[in-house]
Amino acid sequence: MKQKSNQILMLLQAWLIDILKNIMFSSELRKKFLIFFAQRNHTIVASSSLLPNDATVLFTTAGMQQFKDYYVDKVSPFGPRVASIQKCFRTSDIEEVGDNRHLTFLEMLGNFSFGDYFKKEAISWAFEFLTKELRLPLSRIWITVFKGEKGIPEDKESRQIWLSLGIPEERIRVSGFEDNFWGPTGKEGPCGPTTEIHIDLRGKACEKGKDCQPNCSCERFIEVWNLVFNEYYKNEKGEFTLLNKKGVDTGMGLERLAMVVQNKNSVFETDIFHSLIEKVRSSAKNQENLERNSRIVVDHLRGIAFIAAEDILPSNVGQGYILRRLIRRVLRYLNLLNLSREIVLVLFKEISRFYSSYYPEISQKEAQVIEVFEKEASRFEKNLQKGLIHFNKLISEKRVISGREAFRLYDTFGFPLEMTLELAKEKGIKVEVADFYKAFKEHQTISRAGAHRKFGGVGIDQIKNEEERIKATKLHSATHLLQAALRAILGNQIRQEGSDITPERLRFDFNYPRPLTKEELATVENLVNEKIKEDLEVKREEMTYEEAINSGALAFFKEKYPPKVSVYSMGNFKTKPPLIFSKEICAGPHVQRTSEIGKFKILKQESLGTGLRRLKATVF
Ligand code: ALA
Repeated sequence: MKQKSNQILMLLQAWLIDILKNIMFSSELRKKFLIFFAQRNHTIVASSSLLPNDATVLFTTAGMQQFKDYYVDKVSPFGPRVASIQKCFRTSDIEEVGDNRHLTFLEMLGNFSFGDYFKKEAISWAFEFLTKELRLPLSRIWITVFKGEKGIPEDKESRQIWLSLGIPEERIRVSGFEDNFWGPTGKEGPCGPTTEIHIDLRGKACEKGKDCQPNCSCERFIEVWNLVFNEYYKNEKGEFTLLNKKGVDTGMGLERLAMVVQNKNSVFETDIFHSLIEKVRSSAKNQENLERNSRIVVDHLRGIAFIAAEDILPSNVGQGYILRRLIRRVLRYLNLLNLSREIVLVLFKEISRFYSSYYPEISQKEAQVIEVFEKEASRFEKNLQKGLIHFNKLISEKRVISGREAFRLYDTFGFPLEMTLELAKEKGIKVEVADFYKAFKEHQTISRAGAHRKFGGVGIDQIKNEEERIKATKLHSATHLLQAALRAILGNQIRQEGSDITPERLRFDFNYPRPLTKEELATVENLVNEKIKEDLEVKREEMTYEEAINSGALAFFKEKYPPKVSVYSMGNFKTKPPLIFSKEICAGPHVQRTSEIGKFKILKQESLGTGLRRLKATVF
């Protein structure tokens, strides 16, 4: 009790000091940013989902992702100037978390121009926003610009603009593709040179002297705003061509901005994380690596809340695997802090309270998030104990863990490789990582062979009895309509997790956190029957995997496909553009028109546990 009131006092004190110092809270930064750009004729667009409409990337990682086409051929329905605050998740930074600036989930403030304004306005507005609106001192601002490389010229124009705004020559540095060129997201798309705004946190060079500049490893600087000038299109072969119209894409991490505006030494000390981190620190019973370990816990819990609120469930593939990895890492770091799992509930509640007005989905789905975490945690903790016994036995016998053993820890006990690596490092033991990946690949090949037997049309072609073969083909086409109907009604996060067809019935497994209600089942059934009645054409095309994915075809994430795949679409191709209801990469066979399927009926719904559901259905 005493500890608790002390903690509340400390938080109150910190908050009061912040108010007295006239600190700008993150909510105010969001507001100021949107108002600033709305006043400059930008349409404010809501954040898109964390799950992008592009199967080649797992999560939305940048603000421009939802606007990608407007730089190329499509006309923006929001007009040529847009600003947004985008929820982003960067898997590439999972292992970086723990320092003073890296995060997995972040909010990105961005302004965008599709063939409208260009460098002069983008740079001047960024400068005005930081120095006038947020009153950041000019003396702390450093700039980087593109130096010119591989046939793409040096960005002299941006340098001139910065000079004209009063940034001295010595604080404008140059860099090449690595730091001052951005994009495309995925394999092809718009991209271009960037100019970045860095903030000097210390005002003093490290031992590198004059060479201590933005991106220096001493962490004197922090990059806050990236201004991308989309002038090029990079195609799949890696060739650059000039875009017809020039565009602007900017991105500024809200958490980093809060860190510099609030004068803090890390993003975790800002109003966004402060009370979360204090709760962890004050309850931790093991103080070793307290700073790093508590940062990892709070960063990951916030990421978990945002991912689970998108109805993703822990699994072994794609986004579900990232969620699983985050939950397991949290459990491991709680263990290191000698903290019990109960604190997680308090932290999740705090997270949903903090985001309730800006991202109401987080508080609306609080119970779901907690349930997902608790279920996965209980399952894993049982394995964790058994796995640790196995691990300790292994290392009592030898000083090296073979790839196969590491794979067994992963496959049987659910230890992500990084956890085995960390445990091994603590004990000074080597892990044969390359062999782990070999074992992993072998396993994938085996399960793929199994999967094909189940999912494939291959099996249908081999049915000898013609009547049975025709029925199975109808069921196969009905399976595609069923998946499309589930996605239309329950949301695009629905993914096929398994499918099996016999001449009597189809079976379809998919991810969903709860049983479907009677009404939902009836709506799905009706929608499939409607699409059958509409007598949609079934069209088969061959294309590369990338073309298929870019055209919106569904595929099993991370499945290995041949260079050319066949894609089945069901829709009305007479309209312009065609109205496509279902599109999947698939080997067939299928009916030619959906009316051949007959009548569709859902027979049964089952739970496979752990957020997986199974539907059985038939046609007659
Ligand atoms: N799209 C750019 C980035 O993510 C602004 O850094």
